[in-house]
Amino acid sequence: MAETTTSTAGNGPVKPRTWGDEVEEEEQEQKKLESSNATPSPDLEKIEKLTISDESEPSKTGDDEAGVVKKNESLLHEPDELKVEIKTGDTIYESASTFEDLNLSAELLRGLHHEMGFVRPSKIQAISLPMILTPPYKNLVAQAHNGSGKTTCFVVGMLSRVDPSKKVPQAICICPTRELAMQNDAVLSKMGKHMGITSLCAIPTDSASYVPMAKRLPVTEQVIIGTPGTIKKYMSARKLSVRDVNILVFDEADHMLAQDGFRDDSERIMKDIVRSNGGCQVLLFSATFNEEVKAFVSRVVKDANEMYVEKEKLSLATLKQYKVHCPDELAKIQVIKDKIFEFGKWLGQRIIFVHARNSARMLHDALSKEGYECTSIHGAMQQEDRNKIVKEFKDGLTDVLISTDLLARGFDQAQVNCVVNFDLPAKFHSPTEPDDEVYLHRIGRAGRFGRRGVVFNLICSERDRVLMEKIERNYEHHVAEVRWDSNDDFEKALKEAGLA
Ligand SMILES: Nc1ncnc2c1ncn2[C@@H]1O[C@H](COP(=O)(O)OP(=O)(O)OP(=O)(O)O)[C@@H](O)[C@H]1O
Ligand SMILES: [Mg+2]
Repeated sequence: MAETTTSTAGNGPVKPRTWGDEVEEEEQEQKKLESSNATPSPDLEKIEKLTISDESEPSKTGDDEAGVVKKNESLLHEPDELKVEIKTGDTIYESASTFEDLNLSAELLRGLHHEMGFVRPSKIQAISLPMILTPPYKNLVAQAHNGSGKTTCFVVGMLSRVDPSKKVPQAICICPTRELAMQNDAVLSKMGKHMGITSLCAIPTDSASYVPMAKRLPVTEQVIIGTPGTIKKYMSARKLSVRDVNILVFDEADHMLAQDGFRDDSERIMKDIVRSNGGCQVLLFSATFNEEVKAFVSRVVKDANEMYVEKEKLSLATLKQYKVHCPDELAKIQVIKDKIFEFGKWLGQRIIFVHARNSARMLHDALSKEGYECTSIHGAMQQEDRNKIVKEFKDGLTDVLISTDLLARGFDQAQVNCVVNFDLPAKFHSPTEPDDEVYLHRIGRAGRFGRRGVVFNLICSERDRVLMEKIERNYEHHVAEVRWDSNDDFEKALKEAGLA
């Protein structure tokens, strides 16, 4: 058996998690929330608005071919009016215009410049890294665009807080899916290549390679990156000591702390660390924090610095979104064949999002039968197969990937410049309500770090039409229409997106 169980404890039946059809199949304990008596920290009421000079930001190279990525290219194009609301209590931080300003070790600077190929920090990194790295190492809640480089913020944070001579866990990063944990672990290894810091990727494994917890050696790696269920299992089995942990990161934190996400597991891990060593610096990162999660966060993560980007500014100007009204379901498949495949010469890699595992299989079969090459991924697949599909896509061996929301968040592949919503994201329990957050994360798989990208939303039913309308209203962003059977419209759309 893989390390994947589902259990119920105490307070009634386990609520299904609602983020697409994907659940990291790990144990979950339900418990009541102590939400009623807490009040927001007074420190957070003091708001200091900081503006960061744009002078050091590279201007966008106007003509990168079809969003093709050139090595070492500094692409991030943050709108001039990008307003970041920052709350820092009484502490004053100076933003960093170079990585050298941050007092990082020579080994880490080498990793950033030579291994990662980064020239200078993005705006988000320039603002958040001083907050993360400056004593007294306050907690941080950071919201910034998809693809704006949040991973670097917390990986630099973790690498800087580890003492390489101490062979014990000192940093933990928790992610919603095994794919994201593996990706973040790969970034940490690359960035920290010259630092001699060890890491463990704590994720569920297939039955073939499963080793019972009791038979595992205590963890001596210095950084642990994994999914909440597996990390919790290590902790419960007393194989993972958190006594020396001084930094705890939640990637996709809004989902990790949402009631229908991994809130219980996440809170449990935080509490165990408090019990064991009095607590540590907690960093929360995501492109989205809805009001409910924000309110919860300010209750459980006390005295945090906060950094938020306005919701309307979240969809990058470099990403063009369109809607395609299709007369029926077959027409949707026709659009994929005739447009998404046929216009492939202008597109890089493409991700097609569907709402359920069955749709992924169905679409994959329909396309393969007619000789269209694609792969698909969803949570019911064997872990090994999931690894293989992701690796092939990351290696550029496949161009079109069909995915459920398993890859909606965090998945980073620079060559993806087209996202198709074959099914629009809707709330699990109320299918007429769009999942605005998931929409933003899905489309954010294209146009990474300021690259160009295009999004096609396929609309078939009246429900789809309403969902799309609500999404447009929520982000105050008009989405133009292209006719499903018009090559001219698609060509024009790709031109507008800067891809043709
Ligand atoms: N300072 C930098 N210079 C150049 N490229 C960078 C820099 N920082 C990050 N990148 C690149 O930008 C891309 C997006 O970064 P990352 O995956 O961290 O985004 P993110 O903010 O976590 O997005 P998401 O919200 O979708 O998870 C990555 O390919 C990363 O290597
Ligand atoms: Mg990310």
